[in-house]
Amino acid sequence: MPHIVFEKKELITIPSQKDGVDFKFIAKSYNFTQKIRKIEYRIALENESKEFLLSLKPKNDDFMIKADKVTRLSPVTLVKNALNAYVNLNNAKVLFSNTHNLKVKEEAKNEYLKDINYFVDDFTTDKEIQIEIGFGSGRHLLHQAKTNPNIQFIGLEIHYPSIEQLLKQLELQNITNVLVVNYDARLFMEFIESNKVGKIFVHFPVPWDKKPHRRIYSNEFVNEALRVLKVSGTLELRTDSRKYFDFCTEVLTNLPKGKITIDINKDLAVSSKYEDRWKKQGKNIYDVVLEAQNIDESINLNFDFSFDFKIDFNKTLTMIPTKSLIEKDYFIHIEELYIVENSQNSGLIKLTMGNFDRPVTKYLYVNEGNISYYQGNPLPTSSNINAHEKLKEILSR
Ligand SMILES: C[S@@+](CC[C@H](N)C(=O)[O-])C[C@H]1O[C@@H](n2cnc3c(N)ncnc32)[C@H](O)[C@@H]1O
Repeated sequence: MPHIVFEKKELITIPSQKDGVDFKFIAKSYNFTQKIRKIEYRIALENESKEFLLSLKPKNDDFMIKADKVTRLSPVTLVKNALNAYVNLNNAKVLFSNTHNLKVKEEAKNEYLKDINYFVDDFTTDKEIQIEIGFGSGRHLLHQAKTNPNIQFIGLEIHYPSIEQLLKQLELQNITNVLVVNYDARLFMEFIESNKVGKIFVHFPVPWDKKPHRRIYSNEFVNEALRVLKVSGTLELRTDSRKYFDFCTEVLTNLPKGKITIDINKDLAVSSKYEDRWKKQGKNIYDVVLEAQNIDESINLNFDFSFDFKIDFNKTLTMIPTKSLIEKDYFIHIEELYIVENSQNSGLIKLTMGNFDRPVTKYLYVNEGNISYYQGNPLPTSSNINAHEKLKEILSR
Protein backbone atom coordinates (compact mmCIF):
# COMPACT_ATOMS: atom_id res chain seq x y z
CA MET A 1 0.00 0.00 0.00
CA PRO A 2 1.52 3.34 -0.99
CA HIS A 3 2.48 5.52 1.96
CA ILE A 4 4.88 8.26 2.96
CA VAL A 5 6.51 8.88 6.35
CA PHE A 6 7.60 12.47 6.94
CA GLU A 7 8.79 14.69 9.76
CA LYS A 8 5.90 15.96 11.83
CA LYS A 9 4.84 19.54 11.15
CA GLU A 10 1.77 21.80 10.99
CA LEU A 11 -1.01 20.52 8.73
CA ILE A 12 -1.58 22.20 5.36
CA THR A 13 -4.08 25.04 5.17
CA ILE A 14 -7.43 24.19 3.66
CA PRO A 15 -8.73 24.61 1.00
CA SER A 16 -5.67 24.42 -1.23
CA GLN A 17 -4.48 22.86 -4.48
CA LYS A 18 -1.27 21.22 -5.56
CA ASP A 19 -0.32 19.25 -8.69
CA GLY A 20 -3.95 18.91 -9.79
CA VAL A 21 -5.12 17.72 -6.36
CA ASP A 22 -7.80 19.76 -4.62
CA PHE A 23 -7.62 19.47 -0.80
CA LYS A 24 -11.08 20.22 0.58
CA PHE A 25 -11.16 19.69 4.31
CA ILE A 26 -9.29 18.05 7.18
CA ALA A 27 -11.11 16.28 9.98
CA LYS A 28 -9.55 15.36 13.33
CA SER A 29 -10.50 12.23 15.29
CA TYR A 30 -12.79 12.69 18.27
CA ASN A 31 -12.42 10.27 21.15
CA PHE A 32 -16.06 9.31 21.76
CA THR A 33 -15.44 5.86 23.23
CA GLN A 34 -13.07 7.21 25.91
CA LYS A 35 -10.51 4.57 24.92
CA ILE A 36 -6.97 5.93 24.73
CA ARG A 37 -6.19 6.58 21.11
CA LYS A 38 -3.73 8.62 19.13
CA ILE A 39 -5.13 11.57 17.24
CA GLU A 40 -5.61 10.86 13.53
CA TYR A 41 -6.74 12.98 10.63
CA ARG A 42 -8.76 12.35 7.51
CA ILE A 43 -7.93 14.62 4.58
CA ALA A 44 -10.66 14.96 1.96
CA LEU A 45 -9.57 15.68 -1.59
CA GLU A 46 -10.49 15.53 -5.23
CA ASN A 47 -8.11 14.19 -7.85
CA GLU A 48 -9.14 13.71 -11.51
CA SER A 49 -12.80 14.27 -10.52
CA LYS A 50 -12.68 11.50 -7.94
CA GLU A 51 -13.16 12.22 -4.25
CA PHE A 52 -11.49 10.19 -1.51
CA LEU A 53 -9.85 10.48 1.89
CA LEU A 54 -6.25 10.21 3.02
CA SER A 55 -5.37 9.01 6.49
CA LEU A 56 -2.71 10.96 8.39
CA LYS A 57 -1.51 9.57 11.69
CA PRO A 58 1.50 9.72 14.00
CA LYS A 59 4.22 7.13 13.53
CA ASN A 60 6.64 7.37 16.44
CA ASP A 61 7.63 11.07 16.39
CA ASP A 62 6.72 11.48 12.71
CA PHE A 63 3.63 11.40 10.50
CA MET A 64 2.53 8.66 8.13
CA ILE A 65 0.13 9.42 5.29
CA LYS A 66 -1.70 6.85 3.15
CA ALA A 67 -5.06 6.26 1.51
CA ASP A 68 -8.00 5.73 3.86
CA LYS A 69 -8.98 2.07 3.34
CA VAL A 70 -12.71 2.64 3.12
CA THR A 71 -12.63 5.29 0.40
CA ARG A 72 -9.56 4.05 -1.48
CA LEU A 73 -9.99 4.12 -5.24
CA SER A 74 -8.19 2.67 -8.20
CA PRO A 75 -6.04 3.25 -10.19
CA VAL A 76 -3.38 3.40 -7.54
CA THR A 77 -1.67 6.33 -9.31
CA LEU A 78 -4.55 8.53 -8.08
CA VAL A 79 -3.51 7.75 -4.51
CA LYS A 80 0.22 8.11 -5.16
CA ASN A 81 -0.28 11.53 -6.77
CA ALA A 82 -2.41 12.69 -3.86
CA LEU A 83 0.15 11.55 -1.27
CA ASN A 84 2.99 13.29 -3.11
CA ALA A 85 0.89 16.42 -3.57
CA TYR A 86 0.22 16.57 0.17
CA VAL A 87 3.89 16.30 1.23
CA ASN A 88 4.97 18.73 -1.50
CA LEU A 89 2.39 21.27 -0.41
CA ASN A 90 3.41 20.74 3.20
CA ASN A 91 7.14 21.17 2.31
CA ALA A 92 7.62 18.10 4.47
CA LYS A 93 10.91 16.31 4.95
CA VAL A 94 10.24 12.83 3.55
CA LEU A 95 11.77 9.98 5.57
CA PHE A 96 10.26 7.09 3.62
CA SER A 97 8.16 6.83 0.48
CA ASN A 98 7.13 3.94 -1.74
CA THR A 99 5.01 6.10 -4.01
CA HIS A 100 7.48 6.22 -6.88
CA ASN A 101 8.31 2.58 -7.48
CA LEU A 102 5.44 0.54 -6.11
CA LYS A 103 3.86 -1.79 -8.65
CA VAL A 104 0.37 -2.89 -7.71
CA LYS A 105 -1.57 -5.47 -9.72
CA GLU A 106 -4.78 -3.83 -10.87
CA GLU A 107 -7.86 -6.06 -11.09
CA ALA A 108 -8.49 -7.46 -14.55
CA LYS A 109 -10.78 -5.34 -16.72
CA ASN A 110 -13.15 -7.29 -18.90
CA GLU A 111 -16.40 -6.28 -20.53
CA TYR A 112 -18.14 -9.37 -19.12
CA LEU A 113 -16.93 -8.86 -15.55
CA LYS A 114 -19.43 -6.54 -13.86
CA ASP A 115 -19.38 -4.67 -10.59
CA ILE A 116 -22.45 -5.11 -8.39
CA ASN A 117 -23.39 -1.45 -9.01
CA TYR A 118 -23.97 -2.32 -12.66
CA PHE A 119 -26.89 -4.51 -11.59
CA VAL A 120 -28.30 -1.74 -9.41
CA ASP A 121 -28.02 1.08 -11.95
CA ASP A 122 -27.65 -0.15 -15.52
CA PHE A 123 -28.60 -3.76 -16.09
CA THR A 124 -31.52 -4.40 -18.42
CA THR A 125 -32.19 -7.21 -20.83
CA ASP A 126 -35.08 -8.43 -22.93
CA LYS A 127 -33.71 -11.95 -22.79
CA GLU A 128 -34.57 -14.53 -20.21
CA ILE A 129 -31.99 -14.56 -17.40
CA GLN A 130 -30.42 -17.70 -15.94
CA ILE A 131 -28.08 -17.58 -12.97
CA GLU A 132 -25.38 -20.01 -11.86
CA ILE A 133 -24.24 -19.71 -8.27
CA GLY A 134 -20.66 -20.73 -7.41
CA PHE A 135 -19.72 -21.79 -10.96
CA GLY A 136 -16.21 -22.93 -9.88
CA SER A 137 -14.35 -24.28 -12.92
CA GLY A 138 -17.26 -22.99 -15.05
CA ARG A 139 -17.79 -26.20 -17.05
CA HIS A 140 -21.56 -26.24 -16.54
CA LEU A 141 -21.99 -22.50 -17.14
CA LEU A 142 -19.92 -22.56 -20.34
CA HIS A 143 -21.91 -25.52 -21.61
CA GLN A 144 -25.24 -23.83 -20.83
CA ALA A 145 -24.16 -20.55 -22.43
CA LYS A 146 -23.01 -22.26 -25.63
CA THR A 147 -26.16 -24.34 -26.02
CA ASN A 148 -28.55 -21.46 -25.15
CA PRO A 149 -27.33 -18.36 -27.02
CA ASN A 150 -30.65 -16.57 -26.47
CA ILE A 151 -30.40 -16.70 -22.70
CA GLN A 152 -28.53 -14.06 -20.72
CA PHE A 153 -26.47 -15.94 -18.11
CA ILE A 154 -25.13 -14.43 -14.91
CA GLY A 155 -22.36 -16.30 -13.13
CA LEU A 156 -21.78 -15.60 -9.44
CA GLU A 157 -18.54 -16.54 -7.71
CA ILE A 158 -16.57 -15.35 -4.71
CA HIS A 159 -13.33 -17.13 -5.66
CA TYR A 160 -11.38 -14.75 -7.88
CA PRO A 161 -9.12 -17.31 -9.63
CA SER A 162 -12.29 -19.15 -10.80
CA ILE A 163 -13.60 -15.86 -12.18
CA GLU A 164 -10.37 -15.20 -14.08
CA GLN A 165 -10.45 -18.73 -15.47
CA LEU A 166 -14.04 -18.34 -16.68
CA LEU A 167 -13.34 -14.94 -18.28
CA LYS A 168 -10.46 -16.50 -20.19
CA GLN A 169 -12.69 -19.33 -21.44
CA LEU A 170 -15.43 -16.90 -22.49
CA GLU A 171 -12.88 -15.09 -24.63
CA LEU A 172 -11.30 -18.26 -26.07
CA GLN A 173 -14.67 -19.78 -26.93
CA ASN A 174 -16.12 -16.47 -28.12
CA ILE A 175 -19.09 -16.67 -25.74
CA THR A 176 -20.88 -13.33 -25.31
CA ASN A 177 -24.00 -14.17 -23.27
CA VAL A 178 -22.46 -14.47 -19.78
CA LEU A 179 -21.96 -11.70 -17.23
CA VAL A 180 -19.71 -12.51 -14.31
CA VAL A 181 -19.99 -11.01 -10.84
CA ASN A 182 -17.70 -11.32 -7.86
CA TYR A 183 -20.41 -11.20 -5.21
CA ASP A 184 -21.98 -13.28 -2.49
CA ALA A 185 -24.86 -15.16 -4.10
CA ARG A 186 -26.92 -15.02 -0.90
CA LEU A 187 -27.27 -11.28 -1.37
CA PHE A 188 -27.13 -10.83 -5.12
CA MET A 189 -30.76 -11.64 -5.86
CA GLU A 190 -31.85 -8.43 -4.14
CA PHE A 191 -30.80 -6.50 -7.27
CA ILE A 192 -32.71 -8.54 -9.81
CA GLU A 193 -36.19 -7.60 -10.94
CA SER A 194 -39.06 -9.88 -9.96
CA ASN A 195 -40.28 -12.61 -12.36
CA LYS A 196 -37.31 -12.29 -14.75
CA VAL A 197 -35.26 -15.44 -14.22
CA GLY A 198 -35.82 -18.82 -15.88
CA LYS A 199 -33.36 -20.93 -13.89
CA ILE A 200 -31.03 -20.65 -10.93
CA PHE A 201 -28.40 -23.37 -10.75
CA VAL A 202 -26.72 -24.19 -7.45
CA HIS A 203 -24.42 -27.07 -8.29
CA PHE A 204 -22.32 -28.68 -5.58
CA PRO A 205 -22.43 -25.80 -3.10
CA VAL A 206 -20.02 -25.94 -0.17
CA PRO A 207 -21.95 -28.05 2.43
CA TRP A 208 -20.76 -26.03 5.47
CA ASP A 209 -21.81 -28.81 7.83
CA LYS A 210 -20.10 -27.09 10.77
CA LYS A 211 -21.25 -23.56 9.88
CA PRO A 212 -24.75 -24.01 8.40
CA HIS A 213 -25.42 -20.24 8.49
CA ARG A 214 -22.92 -19.91 5.62
CA ARG A 215 -24.91 -22.19 3.33
CA ILE A 216 -26.43 -20.70 0.18
CA TYR A 217 -29.84 -22.17 0.96
CA SER A 218 -31.86 -20.51 3.74
CA ASN A 219 -35.48 -19.39 4.05
CA GLU A 220 -34.51 -15.86 2.91
CA PHE A 221 -32.53 -17.14 -0.07
CA VAL A 222 -35.34 -19.42 -1.26
CA ASN A 223 -37.90 -16.61 -0.93
CA GLU A 224 -35.70 -14.24 -2.92
CA ALA A 225 -35.13 -16.95 -5.54
CA LEU A 226 -38.89 -17.48 -5.86
CA ARG A 227 -39.40 -13.73 -6.25
CA VAL A 228 -36.94 -13.39 -9.14
CA LEU A 229 -38.07 -16.60 -10.86
CA LYS A 230 -40.83 -16.33 -13.40
CA VAL A 231 -43.76 -18.71 -13.33
CA SER A 232 -42.40 -22.24 -14.10
CA GLY A 233 -38.86 -21.01 -13.47
CA THR A 234 -36.72 -23.34 -11.38
CA LEU A 235 -34.23 -23.25 -8.52
CA GLU A 236 -31.98 -26.27 -9.07
CA LEU A 237 -29.75 -27.81 -6.44
CA ARG A 238 -27.33 -30.58 -7.37
CA THR A 239 -25.32 -32.02 -4.51
CA ASP A 240 -23.41 -35.07 -3.35
CA SER A 241 -23.93 -34.14 0.30
CA ARG A 242 -26.73 -36.06 1.98
CA LYS A 243 -26.77 -33.51 4.80
CA TYR A 244 -27.16 -30.61 2.38
CA PHE A 245 -29.89 -32.50 0.53
CA ASP A 246 -31.77 -33.12 3.81
CA PHE A 247 -31.31 -29.50 4.88
CA CYS A 248 -32.51 -28.19 1.52
CA THR A 249 -35.58 -30.42 1.40
CA GLU A 250 -36.46 -29.32 4.93
CA VAL A 251 -36.27 -25.63 3.92
CA LEU A 252 -38.30 -26.26 0.76
CA THR A 253 -40.96 -28.44 2.35
CA ASN A 254 -41.60 -25.70 4.93
CA LEU A 255 -42.77 -23.39 2.14
CA PRO A 256 -46.52 -22.76 2.26
CA LYS A 257 -46.97 -24.00 -1.31
CA GLY A 258 -44.83 -25.29 -4.17
CA LYS A 259 -43.72 -28.04 -6.49
CA ILE A 260 -40.52 -29.94 -5.71
CA THR A 261 -38.91 -32.66 -7.82
CA ILE A 262 -36.20 -34.96 -6.52
CA ASP A 263 -33.86 -37.12 -8.63
CA ILE A 264 -31.08 -39.46 -7.64
CA ASN A 265 -28.08 -39.97 -9.92
CA LYS A 266 -29.61 -38.11 -12.86
CA ASP A 267 -27.25 -37.74 -15.81
CA LEU A 268 -26.66 -34.24 -17.13
CA ALA A 269 -25.10 -33.34 -20.47
CA VAL A 270 -22.07 -31.96 -18.69
CA SER A 271 -20.32 -33.14 -15.57
CA SER A 272 -18.43 -30.69 -13.35
CA LYS A 273 -15.02 -31.25 -11.79
CA TYR A 274 -16.61 -31.95 -8.41
CA GLU A 275 -19.19 -34.26 -9.90
CA ASP A 276 -16.48 -36.36 -11.57
CA ARG A 277 -14.73 -36.70 -8.22
CA TRP A 278 -17.84 -37.80 -6.33
CA LYS A 279 -18.91 -40.20 -9.05
CA LYS A 280 -15.48 -41.88 -8.93
CA GLN A 281 -15.99 -42.34 -5.19
CA GLY A 282 -19.36 -43.98 -5.89
CA LYS A 283 -21.34 -41.29 -4.08
CA ASN A 284 -24.98 -40.56 -4.82
CA ILE A 285 -25.81 -37.30 -6.54
CA TYR A 286 -29.10 -35.62 -5.58
CA ASP A 287 -31.07 -33.09 -7.61
CA VAL A 288 -33.74 -31.01 -5.88
CA VAL A 289 -35.69 -28.72 -8.20
CA LEU A 290 -38.17 -26.17 -6.92
CA GLU A 291 -40.59 -24.67 -9.43
CA ALA A 292 -41.95 -21.13 -9.04
CA GLN A 293 -45.72 -20.84 -9.43
CA ASN A 294 -46.56 -17.23 -8.57
CA ILE A 295 -46.15 -13.79 -10.08
CA ASP A 296 -44.41 -11.58 -7.50
CA GLU A 297 -44.53 -7.86 -6.82
CA SER A 298 -41.78 -5.72 -8.33
CA ILE A 299 -39.06 -4.24 -6.10
CA ASN A 300 -37.77 -0.68 -5.79
CA LEU A 301 -34.06 -0.26 -6.48
CA ASN A 302 -34.35 3.54 -6.33
CA PHE A 303 -34.49 3.83 -2.58
CA ASP A 304 -33.89 7.39 -1.36
CA PHE A 305 -30.86 7.31 0.94
CA SER A 306 -30.99 11.02 1.76
CA PHE A 307 -31.29 12.56 5.23
CA ASP A 308 -34.11 15.09 5.14
CA PHE A 309 -33.05 17.02 8.26
CA LYS A 310 -30.04 18.90 9.60
CA ILE A 311 -28.15 18.00 12.77
CA ASP A 312 -26.19 19.82 15.41
CA PHE A 313 -22.94 17.86 15.04
CA ASN A 314 -21.56 18.98 18.41
CA LYS A 315 -24.66 17.56 20.09
CA THR A 316 -24.45 14.37 17.98
CA LEU A 317 -20.88 13.79 19.21
CA THR A 318 -22.10 13.48 22.77
CA MET A 319 -25.01 11.12 22.16
CA ILE A 320 -23.72 8.79 19.48
CA PRO A 321 -24.07 5.12 20.60
CA THR A 322 -20.72 3.52 21.39
CA LYS A 323 -22.11 -0.03 21.23
CA SER A 324 -23.32 -1.82 18.09
CA LEU A 325 -27.05 -1.74 17.44
CA ILE A 326 -28.00 -5.25 16.47
CA GLU A 327 -31.42 -6.04 15.07
CA LYS A 328 -32.69 -9.28 13.54
CA ASP A 329 -31.74 -8.54 9.92
CA TYR A 330 -29.20 -5.73 10.16
CA PHE A 331 -26.81 -3.87 12.42
CA ILE A 332 -25.13 -0.47 12.79
CA HIS A 333 -21.78 0.09 14.44
CA ILE A 334 -20.34 3.60 14.74
CA GLU A 335 -16.58 3.19 14.47
CA GLU A 336 -15.03 6.64 14.49
CA LEU A 337 -15.96 10.29 14.61
CA TYR A 338 -13.96 13.15 13.11
CA ILE A 339 -14.50 16.88 13.48
CA VAL A 340 -13.70 19.22 10.60
CA GLU A 341 -11.37 21.86 11.95
CA ASN A 342 -12.14 25.57 11.55
CA SER A 343 -15.70 24.85 10.53
CA GLN A 344 -19.05 25.04 12.17
CA ASN A 345 -21.07 21.89 12.57
CA SER A 346 -19.12 19.63 10.19
CA GLY A 347 -17.45 16.25 10.47
CA LEU A 348 -17.27 12.61 9.44
CA ILE A 349 -18.98 9.61 10.99
CA LYS A 350 -17.38 6.29 10.07
CA LEU A 351 -19.77 3.37 10.44
CA THR A 352 -20.31 -0.23 9.47
CA MET A 353 -23.86 -1.24 8.71
CA GLY A 354 -26.25 -3.57 6.94
CA ASN A 355 -26.09 -7.31 6.54
CA PHE A 356 -24.04 -9.46 8.96
CA ASP A 357 -22.58 -11.51 6.09
CA ARG A 358 -21.75 -8.56 3.89
CA PRO A 359 -21.43 -5.43 6.01
CA VAL A 360 -20.61 -2.14 4.34
CA THR A 361 -18.31 0.48 5.84
CA LYS A 362 -19.11 4.08 4.89
CA TYR A 363 -18.42 7.61 6.00
CA LEU A 364 -21.26 10.01 6.60
CA TYR A 365 -20.20 13.52 5.74
CA VAL A 366 -21.81 16.19 7.88
CA ASN A 367 -21.41 19.53 6.12
CA GLU A 368 -22.75 22.42 8.21
CA GLY A 369 -25.38 20.10 9.61
CA ASN A 370 -26.40 18.49 6.29
CA ILE A 371 -25.71 14.75 6.14
CA SER A 372 -24.85 12.61 3.12
CA TYR A 373 -22.95 9.40 2.41
CA TYR A 374 -19.40 10.29 1.34
CA GLN A 375 -18.64 8.74 -2.09
CA GLY A 376 -22.27 7.86 -2.64
CA ASN A 377 -25.04 5.82 -1.12
CA PRO A 378 -24.88 2.21 0.05
CA LEU A 379 -26.42 -0.43 -2.19
CA PRO A 380 -30.20 -0.63 -1.80
CA THR A 381 -30.27 -4.01 -0.04
CA SER A 382 -33.07 -4.55 2.46
CA SER A 383 -30.58 -4.62 5.35
CA ASN A 384 -28.91 -1.37 4.21
CA ILE A 385 -32.33 0.25 3.85
CA ASN A 386 -33.33 -0.84 7.36
CA ALA A 387 -29.98 0.34 8.76
CA HIS A 388 -30.41 3.70 7.01
CA GLU A 389 -33.89 4.17 8.51
CA LYS A 390 -32.47 3.39 11.94
CA LEU A 391 -29.59 5.83 11.40
CA LYS A 392 -32.08 8.57 10.55
CA GLU A 393 -33.89 7.81 13.77
CA ILE A 394 -30.66 7.97 15.83
CA LEU A 395 -29.31 11.12 14.23
CA SER A 396 -32.57 13.05 14.35
CA ARG A 397 -33.00 12.56 18.13
C1 LIG B 1 -17.69 -26.96 -4.26
S1 LIG B 1 -17.51 -25.68 -5.41
C2 LIG B 1 -18.51 -26.20 -6.78
C3 LIG B 1 -18.14 -25.51 -8.07
C4 LIG B 1 -18.97 -25.87 -9.30
N1 LIG B 1 -20.36 -25.52 -9.16
C5 LIG B 1 -18.83 -27.35 -9.64
O1 LIG B 1 -19.83 -28.03 -9.61
O2 LIG B 1 -17.70 -27.77 -9.93
C6 LIG B 1 -18.48 -24.35 -4.72
C7 LIG B 1 -18.20 -23.01 -5.35
O3 LIG B 1 -19.10 -22.06 -4.80
C8 LIG B 1 -18.42 -20.85 -4.56
N2 LIG B 1 -19.16 -20.15 -3.49
C9 LIG B 1 -19.20 -20.49 -2.18
N3 LIG B 1 -20.00 -19.64 -1.50
C10 LIG B 1 -20.47 -18.74 -2.41
C11 LIG B 1 -21.33 -17.61 -2.32
N4 LIG B 1 -21.85 -17.26 -1.16
N5 LIG B 1 -21.59 -16.91 -3.45
C12 LIG B 1 -21.03 -17.27 -4.64
N6 LIG B 1 -20.21 -18.33 -4.78
C13 LIG B 1 -19.93 -19.06 -3.68
C14 LIG B 1 -17.03 -21.28 -4.16
O4 LIG B 1 -16.07 -20.26 -4.37
C15 LIG B 1 -16.80 -22.48 -5.06
O5 LIG B 1 -16.18 -22.13 -6.27
